[in-house]
Amino acid sequence: MDALIGFRNVDHHYGDGARRRQVLYDITTDVNAGEIVLLMGPSGSGKTTLLTLAGSLRRVQHGSVRLMGRELNGASRAVMGDARAGSASSSRGIICWRLSRLPRT
Ligand SMILES: Nc1ncnc2c1ncn2[C@@H]1O[C@H](COP(=O)(O)OP(=O)(O)O)[C@@H](O)[C@H]1O
Ligand SMILES: [Mg+2]
Repeated sequence: MDALIGFRNVDHHYGDGARRRQVLYDITTDVNAGEIVLLMGPSGSGKTTLLTLAGSLRRVQHGSVRLMGRELNGASRAVMGDARAGSASSSRGIICWRLSRLPRT
């Protein structure tokens, strides 16, 4: 069965030309149904970028992001919108956006 969210060799850059900067490097991982996943890292490490890719809120630049079996790299606006709404599936709102911060220890 497909993972709920599958990342394969995902890179992401911001900026153009001399300002181009890579923020995600070769991310490969799956999130399966029922799993509870903690995404941890210092400020600026790319957590929000990864979540926005998984949430179909940002275009995949390199690699594969599959949301409930649907490839988001190269997806049309319609497919991206569908993926956001979860409308091709019985489950809705699979991405939880309640972000909280853990105190630094
Ligand atoms: N829209 C953007 N344009 C340019 N740089 C960005 C943009 N969004 C994030 N960044 C940069 O990408 C890096 C990762 O950011 P982000 O994904 O927000 O990390 P986190 O959520 O872990 O703090 C940071 O260096 C941030 O400054
Ligand atoms: Mg963030």
